Order: sequence, then structure tokens, then C-alpha cells
Amino acid sequence: MSVPAIDPFHAIAISALAHQLESQGRSVIHLEFGQPSTPAPKAAIERAHHVLDTDPMGYWESEALRQRIAAHYAQHYRVTVAPERIILTCGASAALVLAISSSFVPGQSVALARPGYVAYRNTLRALHVGVQEIPCGPETRFGLTAQAIKALDPAPAGVIVASPANPTGTILEPDTLRDIAELCNQRGMVLISDEIYHGLSYDKPARSMLEFAPEALVVNSFSKYFSMAPWRLGWLVVPEHMVDAARARMGNLFLPPSA
Ligand SMILES: Cc1ncc(COP(=O)(O)O)c(C=O)c1O
Repeated sequence: MSVPAIDPFHAIAISALAHQLESQGRSVIHLEFGQPSTPAPKAAIERAHHVLDTDPMGYWESEALRQRIAAHYAQHYRVTVAPERIILTCGASAALVLAISSSFVPGQSVALARPGYVAYRNTLRALHVGVQEIPCGPETRFGLTAQAIKALDPAPAGVIVASPANPTGTILEPDTLRDIAELCNQRGMVLISDEIYHGLSYDKPARSMLEFAPEALVVNSFSKYFSMAPWRLGWLVVPEHMVDAARARMGNLFLPPSA
């Protein structure tokens, strides 16, 4: 088995170029990252100032934050998530690594939409997991459907869904989420739902996959809705039986999340 070659995250090079041009006085409109245009919440900034000024800091994991995120699932989606099932991570990117490395063995493959967030396929490949991209066009608003996943041969070991999606912004309808959840349940496929763009929708709120698939792995982060991308803080919700495996990976690969 050889070391997998993966593409660079091209947005990083494009961003460096954009900043270089900006430093030369050129006017640049940044579209290269899903970068919030607002600052982090005032209360978070004030709290960070206070902690930096008064606390020696150290490796950190906040039980209070896990409880608050669990309460968010209850209030917002009406689903029960025990705080123990929430693993705080260094952003959604690390959550994705935990989700994939806790779910698949090398040689298995995972289905995802194309167009889609490039790091899904690159992270899967880096972890020796195969990628089954499903071309999605305007007829499905560039989104995955259960039908398209069902048609894959060989059947994938898992599926990554994002709603709202990057780069399309497509929100999957509740019926589509339900159909995908049912298919994954029937066929024993691991379902990973990236919900990082929740809260950023215009006409209707996005639904969590946990409403349809209590066993789904849900990736989320403070990077987008809370405009805290450089704070590198996110989380992964895992089913009860995966808590130890995912926590072991978080501890060994990353230690605790950013303080
Ligand atoms: C769909 C999607 N998932 C995950 C990430 C990674 O986010 P984080 O900053 O929380 O690692 C991004 C970042 O742009 C994204 O667009």
C-alpha cells in the first residue's frame, strides 16, 4: 500500500496570493474561504480577554460547553443528545478526521456529492478510505438523494451529507434527509452529516440529521455561524457505542481542543 497523494487545499494558496495583492494596494473581494464577515460574538471576545488576562490557561476541555451544546440540540432540533456523546474538537476539520477514522477501515469507500467540499475527499483519501463521488446536477439542486446513493455499485460503507452544502448552499428537504437516513439504516452504512452552515439560511432553518437518524455522526463548529474560524473550536456528535473510539482518537491525534 502506498502513501496516498492528495490535492493541496487550493484555497490556502489563493488566499495567500489575494493577501499579497492586497498588501500591494490592490482591492480584493475575498471569496476564497467560507470566511465570516462579522467578528466573533462580543461576549466571547470579552470572555477571552478576561481569561487571557487572569488565567494561566492549559490543556482544556469544557464540560459546561458540552452541556450547552446538548441543550442547543434539545432546544433547536428537539433531539436528545447526552453531553457525553459530544466531543469537542479543533474545528469541524478535526471532527471530520475523528468521524472518518472511527468509522472506516482502509479500502472501504464513502459516497459524497460532487460538487462538494473538497476536504471531504482529500481527508478520506489521506486516511486510506475510498471516495465515491456522485455527480449532482440542477435536477436535484446539486444535492444528494437516497436514490443516487442506492444506485452505487459497489455499495459504499458510508455517506457524507452536508446541508446547507458547500459550495452550493443547497439545503436538503426533510424528506430527502429522511430517505437518506432510512437507506443508511437499512444497509448498515455510516452516515456523517456536516452541519457547519446551520443557522446561515434565508427562508427556513436547516434540519439536523439527528432528527431522522439518531445514530448519525454530526460534525459542527463555531467557525461559521459564530464567526470564530481562527479560534479552532468545533464538535462531533457520535452514537453512544462510538464515544470511546472517537475520544481516543481526539486525545491521541489532537489532545484537547483550543482553549
Ligand atoms: C462544509 C465545510 N465543512 C467543514 C469546514 C471546516 O471548518 P472548520 O473551520 O470548523 O474546521 C468548512 C470550512 O470552510 C466547510 O466549508
